[in-house]
Amino acid sequence: MKKRVFSGIKPSGDLHLGNYIGALSQWVAHQHEYDNIFCIVDLHAITVPQNPHRLQEQTKSIAAWYIAAGINPDESIMFVQSDNPDHTYLGWILNCFTGIGQLGRMTQYKDKKEKTEFVSVGLFDYPALMAADILLYDTQFVPVGEDQKQHIELTRDVAERINGQYGHIFTIPEYMPPIAGERIMSLQQPDKKMSKSESDPNGTINLSDTPDQIREKLRIAVTDSGNEIIIDKKNKPAITNLITIYQALSGKTPQQLDAEYSGKGYKIFKQDLGEVIIQHLSPIQTRYSEIIHSKAIEKTLTNGANKAKEISTTKIQQVRNVIGISQ
Ligand code: AMP
Ligand code: TRP
Repeated sequence: MKKRVFSGIKPSGDLHLGNYIGALSQWVAHQHEYDNIFCIVDLHAITVPQNPHRLQEQTKSIAAWYIAAGINPDESIMFVQSDNPDHTYLGWILNCFTGIGQLGRMTQYKDKKEKTEFVSVGLFDYPALMAADILLYDTQFVPVGEDQKQHIELTRDVAERINGQYGHIFTIPEYMPPIAGERIMSLQQPDKKMSKSESDPNGTINLSDTPDQIREKLRIAVTDSGNEIIIDKKNKPAITNLITIYQALSGKTPQQLDAEYSGKGYKIFKQDLGEVIIQHLSPIQTRYSEIIHSKAIEKTLTNGANKAKEISTTKIQQVRNVIGISQ
């Protein structure tokens, strides 16, 4: 039997190269090896304020990017989180087994609460819902970027706590790191991760960017002192980030890039990287524009939610039984 993979992305903004390299491209690369469930986690998006119309549009848009990037809905289950209420149901139960202290130590929460005027309980409690997403489906592997590793640790802790008290209920999931690009950094601030909420749009390459926008963002991307194309995270964070992106999209090794660009300087490297990104994204963008207005996406998501629910119902019943909330 194939092992189960579960992952998700929040529909809280446009997808960018960090999402693609750290998550989506990995899902596609491993699609045939695993039994996959890919979610659009809208209930996680509303932990910070969202415009309702925009949220709906973005949810559909993310589904279209999943398919455009190569997720095959006949092979992998694809659905919207809020379409399966089992997530919120288990989320509540897991709340009762999650420590306030541990939630308070989550770096994503600590970062986000600084940037948000109104800090909701949902923002704080976000990892318990994420744990529910993962544990509902006996997930073995969670392919996500490095920023989510801490949430997977918390998921494991909560699952172990419940298994310890009630016997084996939950499969303990593992973090599945990307092959290259666990953490893609901003092109403007290489000490900060590329993110949907970055204030400077030039720091982020969106999957929907035009070739000219990509060329311009690379032209003005910050670089380090010197001009060698070498990986050195500590002293050359900007060029290291660009090399990581190049590597992840081209499949070339750092040695190959070193041989190719030795003595050529940053300008040529950045120009070439721009073309690598444009070439990689072009077929995905074409496919996206072909499907974004199609009604088939709604149908795919409804089917996906039904399939997801078939699996999660059994787990919910099992949990209800062991904790004593079913008659
Ligand atoms: P989010 O945009 O927070 O919903 O993230 C969706 C997925 O993309 C998660 O698996 C993240 O770990 C991954 N991700 C987001 N930003 C980056 C980044 N800068 N580098 C690598 N992975 C990322
Ligand atoms: N928290 C993840 C992020 O910000 C999104 C997410 C929610 C997720 N539930 C999940 C990822 C379950 C993997 C598995 O990127």
